[in-house]
Amino acid sequence: MTKKEVLNKLLALNGKLVSGESLASELGVSRMAISKAVNSLKDDGYPIIVKERKGYMLSSFDLFKKDVVLSEMTSVIKTYFYESLRGSSNNEAKAIAASHKDPFLVVTAMQEGGKGRLGRSFSSPLGGLYFSLYLPSDMLADGDLITTNAALACALAIEEVSGHDVQIKWVNDIYMGGKKLVGILTEGIVDLELGGLSGAIIGIGINVNTDLSDYPDELKGTITSLKIEAGREIDRVKLLKNAVEKVIEFQKKDYLDEYRKRCFVLGKSLTVNKMGRKFEAKAVDIDDRARLIVEYEDGKREALSSAEVTLHKE
Ligand code: BTN
Repeated sequence: MTKKEVLNKLLALNGKLVSGESLASELGVSRMAISKAVNSLKDDGYPIIVKERKGYMLSSFDLFKKDVVLSEMTSVIKTYFYESLRGSSNNEAKAIAASHKDPFLVVTAMQEGGKGRLGRSFSSPLGGLYFSLYLPSDMLADGDLITTNAALACALAIEEVSGHDVQIKWVNDIYMGGKKLVGILTEGIVDLELGGLSGAIIGIGINVNTDLSDYPDELKGTITSLKIEAGREIDRVKLLKNAVEKVIEFQKKDYLDEYRKRCFVLGKSLTVNKMGRKFEAKAVDIDDRARLIVEYEDGKREALSSAEVTLHKE
């Protein structure tokens, strides 16, 4: 018990030094019990600095550990935390959703089998933030709006926590400084008895406190991280809480104007890839169902809901 209490005290001090003596008197235990608790927390991987004859402090500001994540998130949603996953948090959430009907969240500090859209993989090294939110159908927006509302929610959470503006590449990629920062993969859960969607898993991966050296070479020119852009570490727990609260709230609201403002494909030339065939077009608008309205070279317009769009190099 002392261990948890010592951790909570150190967390509340936000990196400030505290003497063993004052911890011992505040918690009503001996200094020896404090020293044992600190050593045990260090064994668990908590970055505690011990200053001789002065006391203890938590050195890292971004403390992404199970106890910390769960204590922050329990007031928001039932949360499952994994230090690492061999597979993907979306798959883990799918397995849990088979027996849970209420909303829940799966969070991991790294995953080996991160899944992207269109069957691609999603590089998910330590330092990033990877989570899959399961929401039953009555908490979801309609159709394509599930993902666009989630993208905007996540965009606003990132702006609030980092103080830096983001851009959205329709449908659901979030960019910063012209490079990809976030990927979103939404997977529907079909109830065969109901014959419809019983819920969806909204999987979000954010490159937070990572460096380019953490990623494979082929990604180095196209992605970025919050640490790179903001020049400092970002508190992942704070970002997670803010993003999850907003993703839930925004499912049931109309935020398309805010989405359009951040959508950087509008007015640009692009290539539309449909079932392996490529067409040149210009993005002219986003309609009220979050579909991208493109105009082809022959002047015909089409509302796209899920085709892949590749922007031309400027
Ligand atoms: C994409 O950019 O193509 C979508 C990437 C989605 C990645 C997130 S990370 C959390 C969740 N678990 C996964 O395996 N994928 C999503």
